[in-house]
Amino acid sequence: MQIVTANRAIGEIRNGCTKPYNVLCGGETFVVKFMQNPEGVRVLANEFICSKLAEMLQLPIPTPAIIEVRQTFIEDHGNEVANHVGESITAGNHFGTKRLKKAYQVTSAEMLHMAKNIHVVPEILLFDHWIHNSDRDRNGGNLLFDAVRMEVVIIDHTHAFDLGPLWNATQLKQRLNDQFSIFDTSGYVYKKLVPYIRGNRPFHSILDKMSRLTRDDLWNIIKSVPEEWNVSEEDKIALHSYLWNRLNRIEQVLPLLKPVLPYWKGGT
Ligand SMILES: Nc1ncnc2c1ncn2[C@@H]1O[C@H](COP(=O)(O)OP(=O)(O)OP(=O)(O)O)[C@@H](O)[C@H]1O
Ligand SMILES: [Mg+2]
Repeated sequence: MQIVTANRAIGEIRNGCTKPYNVLCGGETFVVKFMQNPEGVRVLANEFICSKLAEMLQLPIPTPAIIEVRQTFIEDHGNEVANHVGESITAGNHFGTKRLKKAYQVTSAEMLHMAKNIHVVPEILLFDHWIHNSDRDRNGGNLLFDAVRMEVVIIDHTHAFDLGPLWNATQLKQRLNDQFSIFDTSGYVYKKLVPYIRGNRPFHSILDKMSRLTRDDLWNIIKSVPEEWNVSEEDKIALHSYLWNRLNRIEQVLPLLKPVLPYWKGGT
């Protein structure tokens, strides 16, 4: 993942429980989540890992980056950021995504109708169920329409791995063989997606991409989480087992989804 240096704080983002901030980094604006965000530092690991997984599956996400904060940034902008985040930020590695210049929440079916990458909808649904991200079914802030590229984009994986910022090795081991449960397909966001999961074999492409992910691919992503985000070796191993296990039995979710996806004719 690219590393960029934070140059200037531009302004706070008003929605978002992690209190993100727009930060100029070498001529580009990034939406930054800081280690000291109110949800906890683990949020950054969740974002980092899920962004890398999304990239491997060629899902549409804004470019992720590690945001390097230096002492000079803290001297010049530390107070204004701390006022928003609620705690003083420290030098080191934080997480950000490149800010989309014209992005909107998906408020209408027409926006989806215009999206050039609408084929990606079944892929997003299965991805969320794999990583156990239950924060997109009704949270309008986590599926955006990029009006420059005319594409839907997924953001915000803070709440992945079932427990969001609260997961640890013990909790994930307990959940290792949990049955899949499906998220709310009548929720504010998912209900707009349902009509785009249609025809025969809508999940074919994502299942194919998932089947090509290897144990090592997954481990290489998890092991590269920056040290200072405090994910212990034990936690990393547990997360790897959790995700690998769910990936290998992802097809178990399909019979649960079938009854709530009326436009899906048959086949996977
Ligand atoms: N890369 C981006 N480009 C444009 N806007 C963005 C980007 N990332 C985030 N945003 C905007 O900032 C808002 C908050 O970001 P995000 O959802 O990642 O924060 P959060 O604190 O995890 O939110 P939540 O309260 O949903 O958990 C989004 O709803 C979106 O409007
Ligand atoms: Mg959000």
